[in-house]
Amino acid sequence: MSKLWGGRFARGTDALVHEFNASLRFDQRLAAQDIAGSQAWARGLVAAGVLTQAEADTIVAGLAQVGEELADGRFQFHPADEDIHTAVERRLTELLGPVGGKLHTGRSRNDQVATDFRLWLLDACDQVASLLTDLQQALIASAEANLNLPMPGYTHLQHAQPVTWGHWVLSHFWPLVRDQERLAQVRQRTAVLPLGSGALAGTAFPVDRQALADELGFTAVSQNSLDGVSDRDFAADFLYAATMIGLHLSRVSEQLVLFSSSEFGFVRLDDGYSTGSSLMPQKKNPDTLELTRGKSGRLLGHLVGLLTTLKGLPSSYDKDLQEDKEPVFDTFDTLSLIIPIMAGLFRTLTLRPEKMAQQLEPNLLATDLADYLVKQGVPFRQAHHLVGEVVQLAENRGVPLTALTVADLQSVSDKFGVEAAAVFNFATSLSSRSSTGGTSPEALQAQLKAAQAALPKHGR
Ligand code: ARG
Repeated sequence: MSKLWGGRFARGTDALVHEFNASLRFDQRLAAQDIAGSQAWARGLVAAGVLTQAEADTIVAGLAQVGEELADGRFQFHPADEDIHTAVERRLTELLGPVGGKLHTGRSRNDQVATDFRLWLLDACDQVASLLTDLQQALIASAEANLNLPMPGYTHLQHAQPVTWGHWVLSHFWPLVRDQERLAQVRQRTAVLPLGSGALAGTAFPVDRQALADELGFTAVSQNSLDGVSDRDFAADFLYAATMIGLHLSRVSEQLVLFSSSEFGFVRLDDGYSTGSSLMPQKKNPDTLELTRGKSGRLLGHLVGLLTTLKGLPSSYDKDLQEDKEPVFDTFDTLSLIIPIMAGLFRTLTLRPEKMAQQLEPNLLATDLADYLVKQGVPFRQAHHLVGEVVQLAENRGVPLTALTVADLQSVSDKFGVEAAAVFNFATSLSSRSSTGGTSPEALQAQLKAAQAALPKHGR
């Protein structure tokens, strides 16, 4: 079978080279977009005076039939089909005869593939945004259900100050708001139409590119045909936005792996979201979390891979650009798994408040004791030092801070009054942090409302 570009070739392509060159294996995913783009192009060629209305109608209907064959699996790929674009055109010409050969007038696979890929990514962005919204809703529900449940907060993974479950969960909500913003920006930059750029120099037929953009759902047309066929920024932008999503989910995963361990025991994963060991009967492993954490490496790899492919390419189309699709497709597939799995995991997660309470030890309130001294007029630096001495005193005696008497405290500083012991109350400590973003019940309630307001209004 001859190639669509076979005219100037005396001999056929080496079999291995054909295999190497072909992208059909993965760009079949662009079938629906290729059909839509070609239908729009055929209509555009009428306005440009290239096709009669009747010819365009025939081509549009023929493309619809090819699209149906592709969608329901009846489409017979030919060994010589190089990519989805050549396969569709080959089949169209089989169905329609010579008129099918008029479709590619003024167009190149270079502007065609860029158009298809952008169309596909626009839809992918919407799907990811919708999955993210669902995960955000799951996090809000978890936060709301246990908004004020106290738990230890950590820095350097050491006991730091008390926080609450709602506070912790919402700390993983806000990064997803930024992820949504990034996705919306990716979408905006993707919605620029390259069709009409031709191979590199534009098209010699007076096609109304704005009309094409409007028909296909693009918000702008590219302003330079060389840039139009070479720009893959949108793909890299998507991979970056996706990598950030991956990193965010990886961080939640890492923390939940810890929290579900015997040592912490703060949460219990539902059976549906855990797996067992083939050897150790007692094991319930957080494989879902570990895989999510692991997949973030894969996402980052795709980003670095594409950026490396793009680096140093001259403007216009180079075959290197065919390497743009697999990382983007795999990234989308990966996100389509890890985001809903994380949502389901949160929706089925059991909290163990008694385990959290066991870890609420008085050292978590040492800062509150220093704040108490500040309220007695002691400069904070000095207060910090004095409480450090109190901690040391308790440590030397091998007792918790709360076992020290007022006399003990006063042996360190006469600024400690009898009411100092009242500091050792977790509810009071949480309530005292009442400014925006803090742990007090009012601040948390306000944060929850802000989170609800930050949810995208409609899923997609
Ligand atoms: N399969 C190619 C790709 O995905 C389509 C564009 C081919 N263009 C060309 N001049 N060979 O990039």
